[in-house]
This record gives sequence, structure tokens and C-alpha cells, in this order.
Amino acid sequence: MSKQNRFEHSADPLGMSNEAFRQLGYRIVDMVVDRHREKDREPAIAEQSPEWFAAQLSQVLPVAGQPIEPLLSQLADSVLAYQQHGDHPRYFARVPSPASYAAILGEWLATGFNTISTSWGGGAGPAAVEKLVMTWLAELLDLPQNSEGVLLSGGSMANFTAFAVAKHERGLGTVYLHEQTHSSLKRNLQNLGFADTQIRVLPCNWQFAFDLEVLRSAIEHDLQAGNQPMMVVASAGTTNTGTVDDLQAISALCQQHALWLHVDGAYGAPAYLTERGKVVMQGLSLADSVVLDPHKWFFQPYDVGACLIRHPGALERCFGMYPEYLKDSQGEHALNFGNRSLELTRRSRAVKLWLSMQTYGTDAMAAGIDVGIDLALYAQSIIEASERWELVTPAQLGVVCLALKGARDGQHAIMAHRLAESGYACVSSTTLAGRSVLRLCTINPLTTTEDIDQTLSRLLEFAG
Ligand SMILES: Cc1ncc(COP(=O)(O)O)c(C=O)c1O
Repeated sequence: MSKQNRFEHSADPLGMSNEAFRQLGYRIVDMVVDRHREKDREPAIAEQSPEWFAAQLSQVLPVAGQPIEPLLSQLADSVLAYQQHGDHPRYFARVPSPASYAAILGEWLATGFNTISTSWGGGAGPAAVEKLVMTWLAELLDLPQNSEGVLLSGGSMANFTAFAVAKHERGLGTVYLHEQTHSSLKRNLQNLGFADTQIRVLPCNWQFAFDLEVLRSAIEHDLQAGNQPMMVVASAGTTNTGTVDDLQAISALCQQHALWLHVDGAYGAPAYLTERGKVVMQGLSLADSVVLDPHKWFFQPYDVGACLIRHPGALERCFGMYPEYLKDSQGEHALNFGNRSLELTRRSRAVKLWLSMQTYGTDAMAAGIDVGIDLALYAQSIIEASERWELVTPAQLGVVCLALKGARDGQHAIMAHRLAESGYACVSSTTLAGRSVLRLCTINPLTTTEDIDQTLSRLLEFAG
């Protein structure tokens, strides 16, 4: 006797019909594809005031429901349009996020299945995929095959997780950063209980990298003073200039003094997949911990940051907890991602990575990264050929810094602001060794040389 499927009409706990969900899903796919097809024509970044949003979006608590279609349009037109479009071909500010279609599909699928990657007992499939993806990332970076990892919301949390592990393995001690280390890393250390006197932010050399002599003497000075040097935090691609520290030399120094070597490759590490990236990042594979953000240069939508630890078991030694009410869920295979960071309930960020790595293959992803490196070299050649621009730092891992010759105080920020306001493109203004500069991060393979030509010439128009 066949029983009627009780979810035939609706499987929504709040009552939307399956058919409505299906049609709306198709509609959302159409909205997203149309947006991507047209993104060349949309502003690279757009903003409105809080008052504007207050006028657009009803502030009344929606006690009663309403039709969803107008809400979708409202979201598209009055909410989602107003942000930095990190996947826009002329979004060159901060670190772009050229997300790929397969990764977006993976994200949707994982959400549609309400995927959880917390414990083996409660999510064996997602845990198996996260383990596999972390092994692949370790393999791509030439880290040992038994390295372990976990996916988090981004670079800040992935670096935090690595620092927590380092502290757990080695205890509190003095940590060495430099002036170009991403600001979130110092914040992480402070929040992990490192005293300000234990956080040494050292001056950089002229290339905006660790000055090895300064680093060496800081360590020796601390040893003589009876302090406990504990970790060096190197960068594989600084945010400002794309500079990579001399990882090989720093690793030797760390080995000499038994220090933990952490490498923040949040934006730069994916370039290790390319020949040129591998050359500048020699020594990366010697790190105790590495961070790489797939939502930056590995073609994933927000959010996903990878924390890789060389030492098997170290993540769980730091974060493992075994309360009686989780016993049933932990499963016999002891692969519980809820024991690898502060996140217990956690969605699977690995599904999108797995799907996109499988779909495109890492060769295609490496080729996409190579395009970004070439685009910055192209921008450098235009800057060098111009009488009005000065090259401040050369193209490194898709980042180039430039200055308007004879720029007045604040002029770069005004130029960047006007360009963003025009909607055509978005670049960063920043400061290097006290000097104001403009900065382009060209890691989107959809960018053309024409986009770069136009961006630079429009910037000059806004210089007046
Ligand atoms: C080198 C580096 N480290 C860390 C971060 C922080 O990453 P997230 O913004 O994903 O937390 C960034 C962000 O741009 C970065 O460039």
C-alpha cells in the first residue's frame, strides 16, 4: 500500500510550496546570470547613505508576511547593488574576489542541503570533503601530506586560528611582525593574550619586506634580555605591495632559534601554483602554519579562508572539547571539524572548493592566477611609459603602486574617490613609508588591458 509523500506539495517548515521554491530558484539563477552578464556596465563600487536605505527599506518589523517577488527585486535594486563588487573587472581596490561559477554553484548546493561540517557523526560527507580539500591545498603548497587544516570565514579568522594553535603548542612568547603585516594579525595576537610588549612590529627594508638583520638582532636582543622569542609571522604577499618575505632565510632563522614560522598568504599564497609565484615563495613549504584565502585569489565567493597546520593533531589539541552531549555525534573516525577552531556549528565551505577544483582543475586556476600577475606587469609598463605617473613599487603578485608626479597632499585619495564615484573603476589609495600612493590589485582574469588603460587615464583626468 503506497502512502502519499507528505512533502509532495511543500517541504518548507513555514509553508512555501515546492513548486514556488523551484520557480523562485530558477528566477534567482536568472537574476545572478543576468547580473554577471551585465557586470561590466554596473559600477565597480556603489554606496548610499543610511538615510537613503532607511527610506528604501521599510523599518517596520514584518509581523505579517508578504509576496516574495517584490522583495527579490528590492534586494537586487536597493541592497545588493550597493557594495564593492569584488568580482567586477575594474574593481582593483583592496583585494578583489573574482568568484567562479562552479564555486557559486557549490555554495548554493551546500546551502540548499543545509550542510553541516562539525562532526563525523553528524556530517561525515562534508567532513570527508573538507579533509580532502585541505589535503589538496597542502599538496599545492608543497606542505607535508599529513598537514591538517580547517576552513574559516577568511584571513582574519584563519590567522587567528593558526596563532591560537602556535600559542597552544609553544606557549606565550615574543612574536615578530613587520610594518606591512596585515593589521588584523596584530589584533589577533592582542586578543589571544599576547601583551603589547610581546608583539614586535619591526621596520621593513626598502622593499617593504622583513629586514633580516633587523629581525635577527631583535630575536637576539630578546634572548639576551631573558624574553622568550616564540613565533615569526612572515607574509607571502602583503596587502599594500604584494611583497613576499624571504621565506627561506626566515625559515632558517626560525629553525636556528626553534621558533614557529607562520606565513600569512591570505591573498598571495594561491600564486604558489604558478611558476613565478613558486620562485618568490620558496620556503613556504617549511612553515609551521600557512593561511590562504580562497575568496581572494582562488575563485571562490565570500567567505572562505584556509588555515593549514604542519603538525598533525595540533589543531585538535588546541580546540578539542568532548562534552557528554556531543559524544554521540563525534563518530568513530575522530574527524571533527568542530574541534579544529572556535566554530562548532559550521557550514561546509569545502563543497564549493571541491566542486570548483574538480570542475576547472588546478591547472586552469593557476592559469587564471597567471593572468592577474601579467595584468599588474602590464599596468607597470603603462605607468613607466607615462610622463605623469611614477612607479612606486613594481608589479608583485598582481599588485602595483604608483604616484602622480608632484601630487598634492590628499590628491591621490580624491582621485580614487572620484573614480569610484564615477562607477567606472575602483582603486585604493594607501600610504607607503609615509608617502601617499595609489594601488591597483589586478587579480581578476576578466580584466582586460583596455580596462587598465582606461582606469589609469581616467585617474589622470580626475587629477585635474
Ligand atoms: C595579507 C592579508 N592577510 C589577512 C587579511 C584579512 O583577511 P579577511 O579580510 O579575509 O579576514 C587580508 C585581507 O585583505 C590580507 O590581504
